[in-house]
This record gives sequence, structure tokens and C-alpha cells, in this order.
Amino acid sequence: MSVALVTGAAGGLGAAIAARLAQEQPVLLTDVDAGRLAEVAGKLAADGARVAHAVCDVADRASVRAAFDAAEAELGEVDALANVAGVGMFVPFTELTEQQWDRTFAVNTRGTFLTSQELFLRRAGRPGAIVNIASIGARLGLEVLADYGPSKAAVIELTHVLSRVGAPTGLRANTVMPGLIWTDMWRTTSEWLLANDPAHAGSTPETIFQGFVESMVPMGRPQTPEDLGEMVAFLLSERAANVTGQTIAVDGGTVLT
Ligand SMILES: NC(=O)c1ccc[n+]([C@@H]2O[C@H](COP(=O)([O-])OP(=O)(O)OC[C@H]3O[C@@H](n4cnc5c(N)ncnc54)[C@H](O)[C@@H]3O)[C@@H](O)[C@H]2O)c1
Repeated sequence: MSVALVTGAAGGLGAAIAARLAQEQPVLLTDVDAGRLAEVAGKLAADGARVAHAVCDVADRASVRAAFDAAEAELGEVDALANVAGVGMFVPFTELTEQQWDRTFAVNTRGTFLTSQELFLRRAGRPGAIVNIASIGARLGLEVLADYGPSKAAVIELTHVLSRVGAPTGLRANTVMPGLIWTDMWRTTSEWLLANDPAHAGSTPETIFQGFVESMVPMGRPQTPEDLGEMVAFLLSERAANVTGQTIAVDGGTVLT
């Protein structure tokens, strides 16, 4: 049976993606946040899912290797990978520091490279599937996302490369671009806007987020973590056996891919 590894599995999207995948296969949940990771994995296990968890910093090769080893020891060889771990924080372009730039790329881009390369090395010419989570921020040219947007655009092109390298042996790779989902990432962003942008005076983090949804999403509602879970589960499954190298937005029509 296929075994999945999910990074960022303690986060809003990662937890939902892991839960959806666990309906079909064993899943190793990984994250840097040990406490929340244990909580999320514990809940899934209590519901009867075949899951295990391992703390993993995706920016660190040794940590990534250890996570794959843990999966192999506890669940079996990983052949499906969901790269969900990510960091992102609004900052005006002229205030963006090289430290923030490097950290964003280390997690979002190097992290996706390291885990994907590890899967390729371990599969050694056998089939498998990868879904990389990018963002609509990769396509919008937003001034406040000058590190985050390019880090996710690079993930899209890396996925193109992975799809070409893996195609002859049936190792597929696709990108999913989430739209606007109310997770810790957006809560932090909205709190920052409330504190720093006078245009949002008198708002709450929730109403700020709702304002973005109303102005950006043609279908008029935010996406849910479950919306993303469905797409990732589909792309990692045999149901998508002939789909590779694609970028699919789950964003209510915000970006036309
Ligand atoms: N929420 C949105 O609207 C939205 C939109 C587009 C894309 N995304 C992307 O979806 C993914 C999940 O985001 P989310 O909204 O669930 O945010 P989140 O903050 O809830 O989750 C992110 C998770 O990544 C983990 N993480 C951070 N650095 C890590 C590292 N070095 N190694 C391993 N794990 C690490 C965090 O601990 C956290 O659990 C991210 O890649 C994000 O860029 C989110």
C-alpha cells in the first residue's frame, strides 16, 4: 500500500491534507512544531487512522532524511509526498531584509527541493507522486510578498523539472496553488495589517481577511483546508495517473492558470 509523507502537517492546511490522505493510506505527519504535531497525529490515530509522526525541519537535509527513515521504520516505504510546510509574512518591499528573504526561501523552496530529492533517491526509478503547495502569491506580483511570491514561483518551476525527470519511471509531480484559507498564516498577516496599516483601523483580523476574499475571489468565498485536502488526495492517487507537471489552483477562480 502507498505510504504518504506530509510536511507542515501541524499547520492549518497540512493537518487537513494529512487527515484526507489518511482516509486512503498510512501517513507520516511531519512538522517543526513538535507539540502541535503530536496533537494532530494523536487525534487522527484516535480516530483509527494508520499514522505516525516525526519532527522534521524541511530546510535541513539530515532532518529530512531522518523523517523518511522514520516513515520507513513505522509505516513502510514512502511513495507519496505532500510538501505543505511553508512560511509567509507580509512586509513592505523596501523593508524586506535579507534574513527574511533567506528564511522564506530556505523553508518554501529549499525544503521542497530537499524532500523531493530524497523521494527520488529512495524510489530509484520506481513510480511515486509529489504534490507541492505553492500559492496564488506566486502569480500576483504583490509588493508585500516580494520574498514569498518568488519562493513559490520557484516551487512551480522546480515541479516542472521533477515532472520531466520522473516521467519515464512514473514518478509524477504537480503543484497546487491554494487561494485564501483562514489558517495561522492569514491570522498573523491580518494581525500585522491591523497593527501597521491605518487603512484597516477599526477592523478585526477576521474582517480584514473577509475583505481580501470579497475583493479577490470571483466565487466569493474563502477556500477551506478540506478543499485543498481533496485536490492533494486526488493528485497523489492513481486517479491522477496520467497527470504530471501541472499547476492547479484551488482558489475560487482568483488566478487563471
Ligand atoms: N493559508 C493560505 O491562505 C495559503 C494560501 C496559499 C498558500 N498557502 C501555503 O500553504 C502551506 C500551509 O500553510 P498554512 O496556511 O497551513 O499555514 P500554517 O502556518 O498554519 O502552517 C504552516 C506549517 O509549516 C510549518 N513549518 C514552518 N517552517 C517549517 C520548517 N522549516 N520545516 C517544517 N515545517 C515547517 C509550521 O510549523 C506550520 O505548522 C504553506 O506552504 C503556505 O505557503 C497557504
